[in-house]
Amino acid sequence: MEQKWWHGKTAYQIYPKSFQDSNGDGIGDLRGVIQRLDYLRDLGIGLVWLSPIYCSPLADQGYDISDYYNIDPRFGTMADMEELLREAKKRDIGIVMDLVVNHCSDEHPWFREACRDPDGPYGQYFYIRDCPEGQKLPCNWRSYFGGPVWDYLPGHKDKVYLHLFHRKQPDLNWENPEVRRAVYEMINWWLDKGLAGFRIDAIINIKKALPFRDYPADRPDGLCSVDRMLKDAQGVLDFLDEMAEETFRKYDAFSVGEVFNEKPEELPRFIGDRGCFSTMFDFAETEIGQDPRGWYAHKRVTAEQYKAAAFASQRKAEGVGYFCNIIENHDEPRGVSRYLPAGACAGPGGDAAKKMLGGLNFMLRGLPFLYQGQEIGMENTRCETIAEVDDISARDQYQVALHAGLSPAEAMEVVNLYSRDNARTPFQWDNTKNAGFTTGKPWLRVNPNYTQLNLEAQRRTPDSVWNFYRALIALRQDPVYQEAVVYGRTEPYLPELLNLMAYYRRGKEKTLLVVGNFQGRPRRIPLPEGGQKVLLNNLPAFDLRQDILYAKPWQFVVLDVEPQ
Ligand code: GLC
Ligand code: CA
Repeated sequence: MEQKWWHGKTAYQIYPKSFQDSNGDGIGDLRGVIQRLDYLRDLGIGLVWLSPIYCSPLADQGYDISDYYNIDPRFGTMADMEELLREAKKRDIGIVMDLVVNHCSDEHPWFREACRDPDGPYGQYFYIRDCPEGQKLPCNWRSYFGGPVWDYLPGHKDKVYLHLFHRKQPDLNWENPEVRRAVYEMINWWLDKGLAGFRIDAIINIKKALPFRDYPADRPDGLCSVDRMLKDAQGVLDFLDEMAEETFRKYDAFSVGEVFNEKPEELPRFIGDRGCFSTMFDFAETEIGQDPRGWYAHKRVTAEQYKAAAFASQRKAEGVGYFCNIIENHDEPRGVSRYLPAGACAGPGGDAAKKMLGGLNFMLRGLPFLYQGQEIGMENTRCETIAEVDDISARDQYQVALHAGLSPAEAMEVVNLYSRDNARTPFQWDNTKNAGFTTGKPWLRVNPNYTQLNLEAQRRTPDSVWNFYRALIALRQDPVYQEAVVYGRTEPYLPELLNLMAYYRRGKEKTLLVVGNFQGRPRRIPLPEGGQKVLLNNLPAFDLRQDILYAKPWQFVVLDVEPQ
């Protein structure tokens, strides 16, 4: 595998709306990000992905773009963006923007024009079909946010348009070369401004299985998940190869795909040396326990499942490419509230558990991609009623749960566990009003635990979660260990031991052993003979006797060991 300029970095996702507000309107903004660049540099971050800041009606929090060439005034101006790029560069931080081109907003001029004249050139930018009122829709796919993927074209009672996501997110017709050309031009325009690259949103969806047809219904609503259609869609990689050739490759840009449902044999074409993306997120862990019926039917993740998913992904990437490893993002609940057993964060040893989870994920082979607040161990929030919930996906899942017979209180438990709001509550900077996020009224309620859980407090506490993340990042940058941390081969260690997640990272010179006692109970862990040097430990003690580690609950260590 070729080495790339970004492999050794640590990446960080910012959800701008919730990161730092600079002007008291309750909405995080670009000037807020600029103010926090020193924070990111000192933490050791080398790449920052910004969730969308383009002009948008915010029907799906910016993932519905009405102008790809401008910044939404709520987030700032183009001058702010240019300043951010310059200031980030000074600190050796590359800025990555979100590329949302499966769909645009229904308020984008292309869609407006398509509505005005569906038979004109912009009609071909979307999937518009004749369908007189009362007649059967072109197909029975269910949108990701619930309901059919078809809606009447505004101003027309006899035509419908396709939206795999919200009805305010009409799908762009990638089969039309004009659409592809317009997208590539826009990408290059941004790369010319000095962007390091893009995170590519929902990209697997750009290829539809055509012509539209029904699939067997998979829920009582008579509809069928889009996932089913995606199994039949052929040729997404032809589009993506073309895109890479016309854009990213010319700039040696970084590109990370949000890819779900890829076909296993296609992995090299996605992220191999000649792949269309630099890398993609490993979502294997996020898929554990999911159920096609909806969130309400999900099962909680066990340590064994987590371990199995992580190791399977490491094997998949071996010799092919380099994944991005995450425990959370803006679409997922907080990792510590999801992958640790219920209540583990709150109990004694909660910080140790958070550090263990973070460490196990961070030390895997791949690019560690932290999500804002992960570095201080931010947790899920709680809502008592659905009216308090902003996330459109959670609102839909609440209804699905009610239809399945859950009580409102039970449905809220489900929402509280999986809602995307969990990741979107404002960053907890300190214990002043609104956690230092805004002087105004925050657009989404701050997690009330901010009085205890905040960056300022953790800076002052040597054994805080935050200081532990700093140590992880420092190890990744340590010239002695960097090669092993970045490129070392992953080899599971005693994988058959329940609730132990341990693995070697075998580098050219150094071999590391990463060990996590994935349970709230002590245990004995046999270590390979002799020569262990402790590089990281999430607890003060390291009780080793005759090559047996007497591990405390949630203990996590990284050892420098002799190559065996
Ligand atoms: C991606 C985004 C998500 C958004 C969806 C539609 O999954 O991460 O936030 O809702 O695409 O753009
Ligand atoms: Ca603001």
